[in-house]
Amino acid sequence: MTNTNEDAVVTASSPGKIIIVGEHFVVHEAYAVAAAINKRVTVIASKNGTRKVRFVSQGRDYYFPGTLARRFFPAPSSVMNEIFERFGKCEEGMSIEIRSEIPRGSGLGSSAAVSVATAAAVTRIMGKKLSLEEISKIAMKGEAAIHGNPSGIDVETSLRGGVVLFSKSSGAKPIALEKGIEIIIAFSGKGRNTSALISSVALIRKKYPNTFAHLVESSSFLSLQAVDALCRGDLPYLGAIMNIAQPILDWIGVSNDKLDRMLEDARSGRVFGAKITGAGGGGSIIVLPRPGTSKEVIDRLEAESKYVFSTLIPQEGLKVEQ
Ligand code: PMV
Repeated sequence: MTNTNEDAVVTASSPGKIIIVGEHFVVHEAYAVAAAINKRVTVIASKNGTRKVRFVSQGRDYYFPGTLARRFFPAPSSVMNEIFERFGKCEEGMSIEIRSEIPRGSGLGSSAAVSVATAAAVTRIMGKKLSLEEISKIAMKGEAAIHGNPSGIDVETSLRGGVVLFSKSSGAKPIALEKGIEIIIAFSGKGRNTSALISSVALIRKKYPNTFAHLVESSSFLSLQAVDALCRGDLPYLGAIMNIAQPILDWIGVSNDKLDRMLEDARSGRVFGAKITGAGGGGSIIVLPRPGTSKEVIDRLEAESKYVFSTLIPQEGLKVEQ
């Protein structure tokens, strides 16, 4: 790849996320709590002097705009559209290389991380220094291309890092932890369509409006309690909240046999709590281990999952290097 000038390379990286409590209900205005994890998406933008824009990732190489770019890079394509609409095209052309440690469809926020890192890298290479709020607005276009009607929690967590209490009306509030907390994550291997799951939950709301309204309110209470437990380092209480949140997610139809089996396996070990994280229907579970038991829990989960790892929360948000 030839650059028109050697300085014209920007590397931006952004973390994936877990939702500790409150997924789905957050779309309907409840509070939810999320945390950045130790898996990241890195986007390297460089001017290429060809007057064309290229996406490169995992052996794929497509020009933007184009049908294949839109099909294989839907989130970055929507982010690029938004950037060019706001700031005009980059006449010199650029290459945008995407490297991800987060499996797609794993419920670990890969679309938000790629949207945030693309928005930051591309605007910076075009000479714009944007605020976090502006990057968030652009990244939301990428997230919407995948999720249809996202709450914004994934983008805000990926952007800011750490642990955040989020609601659509009040935005993201950072939560400072005195001590890091270890959480184990296991991907079921089954991808899913977040947009379809959000729509199916909207149908449950239509069918049971009163019950759903109570669950939205209860989910907010659980989220606020989870913040207290996180701040106190009260892991048994946090685990109890996770355990109670899970059957509620099951009731709205976003768990399944595979996830239930993984949760059952996780709970046969010494853990405080476990639940699915994110949209469900596939994706991942999170497990809060008792101190000193994480290896044992990971070994147990490896029988069901090829992608199990542990993360300490909190982790750093968006990083940009030029
Ligand atoms: O990132 P996902 O697909 O695991 O789900 C995000 C969480 C939802 O609440 C289901 C959607 C949203 O935008 O808040």
